[in-house]
Amino acid sequence: MLQYLIPLVLLSSSVADQQPGLVLVESDDSGVENDNNYNKAVNDVNEHDEEDLEVFQPTADWQAIKPGQGIPPGLHVRMNLQSGVKEAKLMDGDDGKKYQSNGNTKQKFIKIDKNIISKQHLKEALKDFRDKFHHDSPTEDSSEELGSRLEASQKFRSLDEIQKELEGVDLFVKKDIEVIMEYVAVLNSSSSNLSEKEYALNELEYYVHQIDNARDLHIIGGLALVIKLMNSTEPSLASRASYVLGSAAQSNPQVQQAALKLEALPSLLRLLSKDKPMAVRKKALYALSSLIRLFPIGQKEFLKFSGLDIFQKLFEEPSSEPLLVKAITLMTDILTEQIEHVRNRLEKQGQDVSGEISERVPLLKKMVEKGWCRLVPGLLHTTENDTKEKVLQALHVMATGCKSEFQEAHVQDNLNRLKLEWLKDASQHHQDHDDSEYVRILLGLVTDLMKKLS
Ligand SMILES: *[C@@H]1O[C@H](CO)[C@@H](O)[C@H](O)[C@H]1NC(C)=O
Ligand SMILES: *[C@@H]1O[C@H](CO)[C@@H](O)[C@H](O)[C@H]1NC(C)=O
Ligand SMILES: *[C@@H]1O[C@H](CO)[C@@H](O)[C@H](O)[C@H]1NC(C)=O
Ligand SMILES: *[C@@H]1O[C@H](CO)[C@@H](O)[C@H](O)[C@H]1NC(C)=O
Repeated sequence: MLQYLIPLVLLSSSVADQQPGLVLVESDDSGVENDNNYNKAVNDVNEHDEEDLEVFQPTADWQAIKPGQGIPPGLHVRMNLQSGVKEAKLMDGDDGKKYQSNGNTKQKFIKIDKNIISKQHLKEALKDFRDKFHHDSPTEDSSEELGSRLEASQKFRSLDEIQKELEGVDLFVKKDIEVIMEYVAVLNSSSSNLSEKEYALNELEYYVHQIDNARDLHIIGGLALVIKLMNSTEPSLASRASYVLGSAAQSNPQVQQAALKLEALPSLLRLLSKDKPMAVRKKALYALSSLIRLFPIGQKEFLKFSGLDIFQKLFEEPSSEPLLVKAITLMTDILTEQIEHVRNRLEKQGQDVSGEISERVPLLKKMVEKGWCRLVPGLLHTTENDTKEKVLQALHVMATGCKSEFQEAHVQDNLNRLKLEWLKDASQHHQDHDDSEYVRILLGLVTDLMKKLS
């Protein structure tokens, strides 16, 4: 069987404003070599956060990209659909000087600059490509657009040609479900060892970003297995299983519903507790967010299973600030959803929407009852700008239910202090444009909030 690779030609210097071009080419490398590279990469991964991985150092030869590793734009990137190996190398004629990192190979990719592509972007791009490949006829705009963007690189065949060649084969559809079934079998087998299960979960996490794959995982009973693995005493399985669930449930109501029925929610809340490793807790919070965002039934269950009390415990744990900030951000998003829903409903009924509505917003009502109106402003003392930003956003959406608490002198003093600090920063001449832009955003947040409270 032919091996197909998807090279992504990442030509732009900014990920945000241009889509990478994509084409399929036949592999000229032997699959065996790829597999070796990949096993090596996989063994290196483990509990690192995406941010902690080293930057990919491109050369003129294909090199495997480790899962989670950031890669700079302007490279040839390809994925072997059979082995799952993602590889990258320099474009022809590129000496690679601009990618050399002054011997500091430990430099973290998040710090270098904004022109770095994360694993997430790579996944999205591949997903996008595969959707196009499935659904577009060769005459449709998008494939023409893809084709023309890639005219320059002559060694690639056009998408039309490849589609013709693969007509009736439906290589990808068949492949995905087959691969998913294989990994599910690994998870279900008592003879699989730990590293085999870890590997299967890593791979599944990639596949379930696609909505149909996530649904198929559920249909063949794999979602139930994944949720069961979240209960594993092995932290590396619990965190990976949570990660799979989170990626499968994201914006996928069918999977959200199924996961709720399979009682994923109480398991995830258990994984958030203090005695679990931080890597597990982070992935559990990610999965929880996917499970209840844009899903009112899930939000109701979250309250029913005392999710708010579990989040509240994070306030007493000074070392867990990053987790707490993520929890608060989730609450902010859900409050925003619920408030909008209530306003829309009132508007439809021709009622006043400017008045006090916190009683009608289930999450806000519970937060007010449990004392969050005093807890959240306490975090304004933090040193991290990012935390301040997230806290101010939370205060904005909580304001309708917490007005009297937020009007208390010590909260007002804190807001004033931040405002003055940022006013001073904003008035100083900043060399870095992005920095001054950020100060303006922070300043806007605090000023608007004070207006809202006056
Ligand atoms: C797990 O099983 C695979 C395949 O049988 C084997 O190659 C690997 O060495 C095993 N790993 C451990 C840690 O036992
Ligand atoms: C797991 O294995 C059992 C029997 O060993 C089987 O009944 C079950 O259907 C399998 N589950 C999945 C999801 O494949
Ligand atoms: C996970 O563990 C809890 C408590 O030990 C148990 O109640 C629950 O049924 C388990 N979930 C699954 C899917 O096995
Ligand atoms: C927060 O932002 C301000 C304004 O840009 C800056 O002066 C300060 O150093 C930042 N603090 C931290 C901890 O990054």
